[in-house]
Amino acid sequence: MPDQIIKSLFIVVISAMLFAGTASAADQQELYIKSLAATCANCHGTNGKSIKDAALPALAGMQSAAIIEQMQAFKTGSRSATIMHQIAKGYTDDQIKLLANYFAAQN
Ligand code: HEC
Repeated sequence: MPDQIIKSLFIVVISAMLFAGTASAADQQELYIKSLAATCANCHGTNGKSIKDAALPALAGMQSAAIIEQMQAFKTGSRSATIMHQIAKGYTDDQIKLLANYFAAQN
């Protein structure tokens, strides 16, 4: 009897491990985008939603094109900033697009 229980447990554990390993590419991509966006949360609020009357602009609901434009302006230095010119330089154009689409979709 205990043998059977051990065998059953073994099967459950192995199945769980196999199942955990089947996270889709879409899940991975979503996680990647969320982790990129999480780096902005400290200052712009969770999911880009800042509290009412916050000193920093909310990113949630901004037009995607506007976010891209501002990030590029920070990156090139055409828009002067206290901090964003340093942060923007850390992201590739592709990552900026992903971030812009993510925040534009938050309402
Ligand atoms: C350390 C705090 C901090 C972090 C982290 C941060 N920001 Fe900012 N952000 C600011 C500040 C401050 C401004 C105003 C411009 C300035 O002085 O740098 C700003 C402005 C912006 C603007 C312009 C908004 C507007 O209304 O014109 C965008 C777009 C932006 N940030 C995007 C991002 C993104 C995307 C991230 C994450 C990759 C991010 N920020 C992370 C502090 C931060």
